[in-house]
Amino acid sequence: MLDIINLAKTYEAAPGKKRQTVRVPTLDNISLQVKKGEFVSIVGPSGCGKSTLFNLISGLERPDEGQILLEGREITGEKGHVSYMLQKDLLLPWRTILDNCLLGMEIQGNSRGQARKKAHALLEEFNLSIYEKSYPHVLSGGMRQRIAFLRTMLANKEILLLDEPFGALDAYTKSEMHDWLMSVWHKYSSTILFITHDVEEALFLSDRIYVLSARPATVKLTLAVNLPRPRSRKMLVSEEFIELKGQLLQALFEER
Ligand SMILES: Nc1ncnc2c1ncn2[C@@H]1O[C@H](COP(=O)(O)OP(=O)(O)OP(=O)(O)O)[C@@H](O)[C@H]1O
Ligand SMILES: [Mg+2]
Repeated sequence: MLDIINLAKTYEAAPGKKRQTVRVPTLDNISLQVKKGEFVSIVGPSGCGKSTLFNLISGLERPDEGQILLEGREITGEKGHVSYMLQKDLLLPWRTILDNCLLGMEIQGNSRGQARKKAHALLEEFNLSIYEKSYPHVLSGGMRQRIAFLRTMLANKEILLLDEPFGALDAYTKSEMHDWLMSVWHKYSSTILFITHDVEEALFLSDRIYVLSARPATVKLTLAVNLPRPRSRKMLVSEEFIELKGQLLQALFEER
């Protein structure tokens, strides 16, 4: 469904005085694939270029080299083809939950009435409609992420990009969110590309994991996760899980 072919990106950073710029090679020859209905994760050291990759796929930025294909059609540099949940949840504090959910759809040019109807239905389905008229500060961290995720889903594209959606949550809430995300993924037959720092999270959720190297990021390891589904916490102590975790950690530690 999604084919990333030989992407490269270098930023020009301005460190300060005298208008000199420094080249920051960020992505180097990145290729990866996501098939319809798959859950694919990306792990890699902090600052290696993971969010940059999502910015390129979503068309917020353009690569210097390479191509992005969706269902075989080139979309390099084009916006509007994927649903993207940014690394920061970006719920606007002065908008109610419902109005926050409408944001993306308004930008896409849906009528307000139509957008409200869709958002309301999804909030009901996720058992969050009682918070419709509340403001983001009254929600717990887990709920905020559910709302941000729900808003991403309302963009209604075939593939969802999720950039460390659970990075700031405590271990217990995180594991609740994993079960929740798995049920939503299953129910909606979504296709998900997911960034995380957490190797257990990546293994628990994914069909395949790409490990990126330190900047400039290259694909260092592609790991198929053939663990049976539905997955339970018990799996975390299984031999297969521990073996895969070892491989992932080794690939990451070599990058330090
Ligand atoms: N617009 C920009 N201009 C200049 N440099 C940038 C820009 N955006 C990102 N960078 C640099 O590119 C590199 C990769 O950043 P990116 O945010 O993609 O990393 P990341 O892997 O998502 O990190 P983290 O795990 O901490 O979220 C960093 O060195 C960052 O400073
Ligand atoms: Mg990032």
